[in-house]
Amino acid sequence: MENRQVLIDSLPDEKLSTDNYKLVTTEAPVPGDGEVLCRTLLTTVAAGSRAGLQGSASYAGAPQTNIVMNSHGVARIEASNSDSLKVGDLVTCPTGWQDYSVHAAKHCQLVSDDIDLAHYLGALGTNGLTAYFGLLRVGEPREGQTVLISAAAGSVGHMVGQIAAIKGCRTVGTTSTDEKCGLLMRDLGYDAAVSYRSPDFRADLKAACPDGIDIYFDNTGGEVLGAALFRMNEHGRIVCCGVVSQYDTSHPSGGPKGVPGLLVNKRIRMQGFLVFDYLKDYDKARAEMKDWIKSGELKPVNDTVEGLENAPDAFVNLLGGGNVGTRIIKIAD
Ligand SMILES: NC(=O)c1ccc[n+]([C@@H]2O[C@H](COP(=O)([O-])OP(=O)(O)OC[C@H]3O[C@@H](n4cnc5c(N)ncnc54)[C@H](OP(=O)(O)O)[C@@H]3O)[C@@H](O)[C@H]2O)c1
Repeated sequence: MENRQVLIDSLPDEKLSTDNYKLVTTEAPVPGDGEVLCRTLLTTVAAGSRAGLQGSASYAGAPQTNIVMNSHGVARIEASNSDSLKVGDLVTCPTGWQDYSVHAAKHCQLVSDDIDLAHYLGALGTNGLTAYFGLLRVGEPREGQTVLISAAAGSVGHMVGQIAAIKGCRTVGTTSTDEKCGLLMRDLGYDAAVSYRSPDFRADLKAACPDGIDIYFDNTGGEVLGAALFRMNEHGRIVCCGVVSQYDTSHPSGGPKGVPGLLVNKRIRMQGFLVFDYLKDYDKARAEMKDWIKSGELKPVNDTVEGLENAPDAFVNLLGGGNVGTRIIKIAD
């Protein structure tokens, strides 16, 4: 059986390009004892993977070439040497960008098709959990507070905005273009939106946050973090989730002005987190997120691109702001 794979051919020097990848065809792997053969149906394209290629994601280790591009996916079991999973079962597992992969059954999580399978990679996957724990555990939102979110239309961001609204907060999003600002307010429920590319960004942000900012959920670092710091209220929280403004380059810029002075004077808590810190509470969070989806309070957006061969282009496009919601590659039915 043939297995198409997207390999990392070279590491990006400055911006990621589709030339950094190559599509190859090999034989599908054969499962050993306790292992299963997984047919990838859907897989993710995530901004954080660019940090992995840059070598700035501690959990991803040193970047390598000639390996299958890593990703999480939804897969169907095609062959099983395990008692716990049978042929036809649907699971989530680290599929990578390829048609078939072999995994120890214990590393696959059984899922049910009572909900759109893409949600297992979005709201019920890593990015949904990141939004949930980052906002609720690190940000500690309270009703009536103002929450600013950067990369607000993206996978993590659009869910943070909606969860903050569920908790009774006022939400302000930043994104690249005026068109996406309109979408944030019209389709994603934000109360206000600001383009970080506008020459008047700092003034626009001030106008969008007349009562200051209580929580800044930072997906980007860079210019948005620099501006948000000066609008934070006393005892505000800055949730450091990621630094996407500094991933797609070999020359990341330095940190913002005002650290630590502003943190001291305004008693601001600035805290980084990794979603894995909350592993033991994943099931509880997923159950709550699933309830919100079923009640219609949370409307996760999945941005699906067809075809494994289009994954590199979908990734380059995502880094340029081309996605709304969680970008997913559909590989098979
Ligand atoms: N801490 C954790 O455990 C954890 C887990 C998962 C993800 N993350 C982080 O969460 C963040 C969002 O990831 P995601 O997968 O949801 O990606 P995403 O937001 O769906 O996609 C990335 C977005 O970043 C924006 N962007 C690109 N270049 C930018 C720049 N120079 N300045 C500002 N915005 C820029 C683009 O939207 P615009 O059109 O708005 O520019 C793009 O759509 C990333 O920083 C990722 O590393 C952290």
